[in-house]
Amino acid sequence: MTNATQSASSNEAWFNSDSVATEVLAGLRERPKRIAPKYFYDETGSALFDTITELDEYYLPRVERQIFQDHAAAICAAAGTEATVIEPGAGSCEKIAWLLPELAPDLYVPMDISAEHLVRSAAALSERFPQLPVAPQVCDHTVGLTLDIDIPDGKRVFFYPGSSVGNFEPAAAVEFMRRMRALMNGDGGLLIGVDTKKDTDVLHAAYNDAEGVTAAFNLNVLDHLNAQLDGNFSTANFEHHALYNESAGRVEMHLRCKRDHTVTLASDSVDFAAGELIHTESSYKYHPDEFAALGRQAGLQQRECWQDNRGWFSVQYLTPV
Ligand code: AVI
Repeated sequence: MTNATQSASSNEAWFNSDSVATEVLAGLRERPKRIAPKYFYDETGSALFDTITELDEYYLPRVERQIFQDHAAAICAAAGTEATVIEPGAGSCEKIAWLLPELAPDLYVPMDISAEHLVRSAAALSERFPQLPVAPQVCDHTVGLTLDIDIPDGKRVFFYPGSSVGNFEPAAAVEFMRRMRALMNGDGGLLIGVDTKKDTDVLHAAYNDAEGVTAAFNLNVLDHLNAQLDGNFSTANFEHHALYNESAGRVEMHLRCKRDHTVTLASDSVDFAAGELIHTESSYKYHPDEFAALGRQAGLQQRECWQDNRGWFSVQYLTPV
């Protein structure tokens, strides 16, 4: 283990094109058609997501950051120091910096499926915090969560900000939290950011920004699949469609097909009809009590919950029951 972040260790062959082809084609043969949100995050998708986080309409990172700033001392006291902090889906590794140096982890393990982005982000963090040991690990945490064998056995705190938990179906969120719980040692825990239910207009605007960055992010999944699977999707044949499904408590993103056509992908073909939707992402919103109930199903107890004045977002600390 070193501070060097030139390479990231990989425990998941998520980019294996045979398994990607099987999974993507199966999703496109379901009714309604679907593409898993993890395919958003190629190099371009990760950069577009970083731009989304700076949009006025996309309040989540701003409000979450305010909560982390306002409650940094209490949050770090709850999570404790000298832990191995593991961040699945770490992306730009910027959020952990909000808690450094107070959190003072012994080791930081950022995980992401985009190796290039991960290595660059981890290197930038090491430059800002040269004393912090960083061990990036390429991992598709939506499929499996395994740790490299040389990660210390002591206390492990999982850090999962940004309401990424909302991108799992609730049962899958429980399963994911169960997997993290199984890897927590001793007095470990889960520090998690969770977006809350709120006014439909606010949620609608957050996923339908005026500049069209979210639309570009959504459509980019097709270019990513073209590159991965030698496909011929044309983004001109689809449009971004996002709505808040209030009864389900989730924002849904879809790609709506504009005309009848056939797409070739991984030497196979899929027919699309005008008006047909491909579901690309759900983003569940939870009241803190609803999320506490979800945590309990995973064997985790909500110990603390911090919110902003409007209750637009929550940061929670959960530990094994
Ligand atoms: C990563 N995740 C929490 C984002 C969300 O809000 O569900 C992804 C996103 N999709 C559209 N905008 C942002």
